Amino acid sequence: MVRPRVYVSRRIQESALRLLRRHCDVELHDSDYPPPKSVLVKSLEDKDAALILLSDTIDREVLEKAEKLRVISTMSAGYDHIDLKEATVRGVYVTNVPSVLTDAVAEFALALLFSVARRIVEADRFLRKGSWRIAWSPMFMLGPDINGRTLGIVGLGAIGKAVASRARCLGMRVIYFSRTRKPDVEAKLDVSYRPLKDLLRESDFIVLSTSLTPETVKMIGEQELRSMKPTSYLINVSRGAVIDEKALVRALKEGWIAGAALDVFEKEPIDPDNPLINMDNVVLTPHIASATFEARRRLAEKAAENIISILRGEAPPSLLNPEVLRVKPLETVKML
Ligand code: DGY
Repeated sequence: MVRPRVYVSRRIQESALRLLRRHCDVELHDSDYPPPKSVLVKSLEDKDAALILLSDTIDREVLEKAEKLRVISTMSAGYDHIDLKEATVRGVYVTNVPSVLTDAVAEFALALLFSVARRIVEADRFLRKGSWRIAWSPMFMLGPDINGRTLGIVGLGAIGKAVASRARCLGMRVIYFSRTRKPDVEAKLDVSYRPLKDLLRESDFIVLSTSLTPETVKMIGEQELRSMKPTSYLINVSRGAVIDEKALVRALKEGWIAGAALDVFEKEPIDPDNPLINMDNVVLTPHIASATFEARRRLAEKAAENIISILRGEAPPSLLNPEVLRVKPLETVKML
C-alpha cells in the first residue's frame, strides 16, 4: 500500500502528528516560524496533502507547482489565506476546522471587552511603572458598567452566537448584524437584528466576529467609526482587514470612540511603529483568541483527521469546496 506524503508547515501538537504518522509519511517544517514561500512551494511539489496555518498563503503560484497535491487542511477556522477557486479547479480538496475554537474565541472576546472597558491592561502598566501613589481615589481609572449595556455583534456565526449567549448572562442587551437574518437564533438567545448602520449607532460595545470576505474588507471604516457613540468600544476577534486601521487610529486619537481591543490586525505581526502601540485606550493581543490548550489541541487533531478522511475517500463536513468532488472524484484520491 502506498503511504501518502503529508507536509506539515509548522510545529504542532504531538497528538495530531501521531495521528498523521499512523497513516502517512510526514515531513514537518519543525519551526514556529512559517516556511518562506520558496520552501513551501518546494515542499509541496511531491506531497499528497498539506496541513497549514492561517499565516501560510496558498495562492495560484503555490498550487501551480503542487501537482500531486490533493488536500489542503488549514488548522484554522478562517480560510481567507487560501485561493479556494484555484484549488477547486486543480482538484485540491480544502478543509478548515470551524467549530472547535468557538468557546475559546467567545471567552476571549469578552475578556477583551472587560479589559478595555475596565482598563485592566492600562492599570497593570500604571502599577508596574511605579505610578501608584494614592491608595484609592474616587475618580481614578473609571470605566463603564457592563451590565445593562448594549452589545452589537457583527457576524452571528458560531462565535457570534457564543458571545451573545454569554453577554446575555452578563445582563447585556444584545443586537446583531449579519448578512442573513436569523429568526430562530433571535428567539433562542433573545437578541435582535439591526441593519449595520443602526447597530453602530446603538451599541455601547461592538464585537466583530464576521469572516473576511470581499464584502467585509474594511467594513468598519471612517464613516462607520464616526457613527459610533463616543463612549463606545470596538472589539475585533475576526480578521484585521475588516477594520480600516488608519481610520481606527484617528477615531481613537480624536475621540470618535472611547477605546478598542484588538486581537487581529491588517498586518501580522504588527510593525513596531504602529501608532496603536502607544495608545492607552487600546488593548492589543497577538492573535491569541483561540489559544487555549484544549482548543488548539482539538484544532490540530481535527486538521489531521480532515486529511486522513479525504485520503480515505470520505469528504468531511468541513470540506470548503464541495464542487471539487466533480473535478476530482474522491475515489481517485483514495490511498489508505
Ligand atoms: C482561526 O482559526 O481562524 C482563528 O483566527 C485562530 O485564532
